[in-house]
Amino acid sequence: MINLKQQAGEAAAALVQSGMVVGLGTGSTAIFATRRIAAMLRSGAVTGIVAIATSRATDAAARELGIPLLTDDIPNEIDITIDGADEIDPSLTLIKGGGGALLREKIVAQSTRRQVIVVDRAKLSPCIGTHWALPVEVLAFGWRAQERFLRSLGAAVTQREMDGTLFLTDQGNMILDSRFGPIADPAALAAVLGARAGIVEHGLFIGLTHDVFVAGAAGVLHLRPDDTDAIRSAFRDDPVH
Ligand code: A5P
Repeated sequence: MINLKQQAGEAAAALVQSGMVVGLGTGSTAIFATRRIAAMLRSGAVTGIVAIATSRATDAAARELGIPLLTDDIPNEIDITIDGADEIDPSLTLIKGGGGALLREKIVAQSTRRQVIVVDRAKLSPCIGTHWALPVEVLAFGWRAQERFLRSLGAAVTQREMDGTLFLTDQGNMILDSRFGPIADPAALAAVLGARAGIVEHGLFIGLTHDVFVAGAAGVLHLRPDDTDAIRSAFRDDPVH
């Protein structure tokens, strides 16, 4: 059976056209879009693409796949970026950063004309924070102060580790995974986190999504922010978690 992540990633890759500047997302879903874009380049279906990767891991994958990468960082506006998400709600607000790439992902998203999110149905959520802890990237200096701050906001905080050792982002920062439970007002929380010195970035992506490809048993749905009927119907069926 074809993998749902693969279906979503490959459906989104079809939006890429010749000559575009393309942002390449990070994670196990976005990699399928990256691989498909490489295949489209190899077959000549598209030409003249240059890409920017949202993480070192994606950069390495793109190099191996032969996708031309920008040598300078974001000299031009990015036409399209295809990226994954950890949790998505009906307003198309996202939690991202499960792979720790949230900072570069947000820099790229904010420079992108068309931000396309690729997910399987398990990522759909009635309210952001219900299923996923919010990754908060913090400077190592003073990190315990940020831990206390996040706790004071009501979060259960875990310092991210990988394979038993401290996880550091591509920028050398730490991630504090902060479980808030359902976040009723993501914009208010984003403002509070954004105002705190020592918090480098957080995984709330608000108002940055132009398209979502959701793969499920019945195929791939294409959602846009203004298509409220399609969004309502996609979120109505209780996703499997
Ligand atoms: C990387 O830091 C993340 O934002 C990913 O895009 C997100 O975690 C989704 O990853 P998967 O597609 O692997 O679930």
